[in-house]
Amino acid sequence: MDRFYVTTPIYYVNDLPHIGHAYTTVAADILARFNRLLDKKVFFLTGTDEHGQKVQKAAEQRGLSPKAHADIMVENFKNLWKQLNISNDAFIRTTDERHKEVVREVLQRLYDKGEIVKRPYKGWYCTPDERFWTEKELVDGKCPDCGRPVEEIEEDNYFFLMSKYQDRLIKHIEENPGYILPETRKNEVMGFLKARPLGDLCISRPKKRLSWGVPLPFDENYVTYVWFDALLNYYSATLYLAPQIDNLIWWPADHHIVGKDILTTHAVYWSTMLMALDMPLPKNIFAHGWWTVEGRKMSKSLGNVVDPFEVIETYGVDPFRYFLFREVTFGLDGDFSKQAIVGRINSDLANDLGNLVSRAITMAFKYFNGTVPEPAQEERELKKLAEGIIDQVRTHLEVLAFQKALDDIWTLVSYLNKYIDTKQPWMLAKAPDRADELKTVIYSILEGIRFLSLYMYPFIPDSANRIYSCLGFEDGIGNGSLKNLKWGELKPGTILKKPGALFPRIVEEKQKKPQKEQKPKDRKTDGGSKMISIEDFAKVELRVGKVLDAERIEGSNKLLKLKVDIGEERQIVAGIGKVYSPEDLIGKSIVVVANLKPAKLMGVESQGMLLAAGTDEDIAILSPEKQVPPGTRVK
Ligand code: ME8
Ligand code: MG
Repeated sequence: MDRFYVTTPIYYVNDLPHIGHAYTTVAADILARFNRLLDKKVFFLTGTDEHGQKVQKAAEQRGLSPKAHADIMVENFKNLWKQLNISNDAFIRTTDERHKEVVREVLQRLYDKGEIVKRPYKGWYCTPDERFWTEKELVDGKCPDCGRPVEEIEEDNYFFLMSKYQDRLIKHIEENPGYILPETRKNEVMGFLKARPLGDLCISRPKKRLSWGVPLPFDENYVTYVWFDALLNYYSATLYLAPQIDNLIWWPADHHIVGKDILTTHAVYWSTMLMALDMPLPKNIFAHGWWTVEGRKMSKSLGNVVDPFEVIETYGVDPFRYFLFREVTFGLDGDFSKQAIVGRINSDLANDLGNLVSRAITMAFKYFNGTVPEPAQEERELKKLAEGIIDQVRTHLEVLAFQKALDDIWTLVSYLNKYIDTKQPWMLAKAPDRADELKTVIYSILEGIRFLSLYMYPFIPDSANRIYSCLGFEDGIGNGSLKNLKWGELKPGTILKKPGALFPRIVEEKQKKPQKEQKPKDRKTDGGSKMISIEDFAKVELRVGKVLDAERIEGSNKLLKLKVDIGEERQIVAGIGKVYSPEDLIGKSIVVVANLKPAKLMGVESQGMLLAAGTDEDIAILSPEKQVPPGTRVK
């Protein structure tokens, strides 16, 4: 049976998801959706990595058990995948009982086979990265990876005898050119493997130092190394989370998609673990590149981490998905900037694709009352182009060349736009003797758009379905739709639907009309229930402020820019302008959220938020009941 198994890394629950996580997961989603259209049985797996030091520490700091902490944090990922329209078939958590059972079973098997042994060990340990380094590997006495201080640790530990698989791994990579992609990354791994002897892998952590992990079945004083546990998710999930279809065996995976940061753990640790287990290796490990933001590394300390929820809110799910895969070659690094995403949306989606669809359907309404006309003849060249794209897309997607696949699809977009311009249907409509030609032209454009909706579906599933439904296909794009794709299957007489605004142009900030009020969305949860603890509340720093100055923001009838003294001067943008005029406010005492991440409203930075009750039209500012000095904390 034709089956397809694709994975993402399982993400650490500690961090909030950002565009990097979104990137890998959308890549896997595109492949999963494409393969479903080819009618393959698909298993698309994502999930979270929940054991280890980092999670234990973060949980301690919050006064929670590690599991309770993970239960809360995992929702951020699940919510994001829902919003991004991710079609994963399963979501694995390494705290799943079934997963832990598999980890223990594998450890015991390797121990019984003599692949795991106990040895004294001395090394330098980087706690945040959870890995040991040798003296030689340190850079200025610090972790060579993250630059943070390391501790020297001496203890007995268990080792997986990875070193003995070095030659076999080299051979496997040489004999299977598609095993590690892209090529440059493969060369890096090969360079590393050939340069020096591979060491053995320390796979245990003494419980006294770290208790949050899977205990070794053969020595209860230890838990297993978080990576040993994490990598096994790809296999364990096939045993308890994969679709059960006629005893289908899902292992090995077709693609493990990962970022370049974790290529070694996959290419070396995971491959040799599988060799020791006498299990087949995955068919491919693809290490993609790194996103920077406006030219800089994304980092918490720089405060420039891009929140995918915000990107979705600003630009929409499909434009975001499209941008990620159109903008850079998968495998290379990319830079995320507002200018780049706006450029892509306006030129490709709004101009090329969106316009094409709306022009075509508008003409069909004008000339044929909103039904598909009967073509007088077949446009051979167009048919050939449209039908031929599937093979190119398939070939490209086999090696995750998303950008090339989109290039090929875009030849059809461009062809159709040019076709309209040269055929000039509006002229044909004026010439009664050319009615047949007009029918052919409009039919061919609509049929071409049907092909486009199917080809684009893996990338922009929602929009593709909307386009498809405008062509009268109410049931949406289903599995197998690309399998026997033939020109001419759009039935004449079909009743069309108007598409509405598919990809609205993004207007530059300065010209922008006041935005609709944004409803707060319940998207990032920090708690399974609606209740929060007093500690949670204490995180919100509320202070009394005194308004020093106020003015309206140009172009908005709602937003006011305030200068507020909260012990220090802050600029705050507040949506209270329909009720309060700037003069009302100067000198007034208000309450401000002082530790809110700065945000821009109509291009004006707001360094905090004013508390007020009510709606835009009927709003009341909160004010202390008697005089309190500015800066006083509200509790
Ligand atoms: O490493 N650009 O989890 P993690 C592109 N739990 N992709 C990025 C990125 C960026 N700036 N930042 C992160 C772990 N990613 C382990 C994995 S797998 C058995 C265990 C993506 O939460 C990219 O896919 O640190 C990277 O490999 C992954 O997030 C790391 O996620
Ligand atoms: Mg990481």
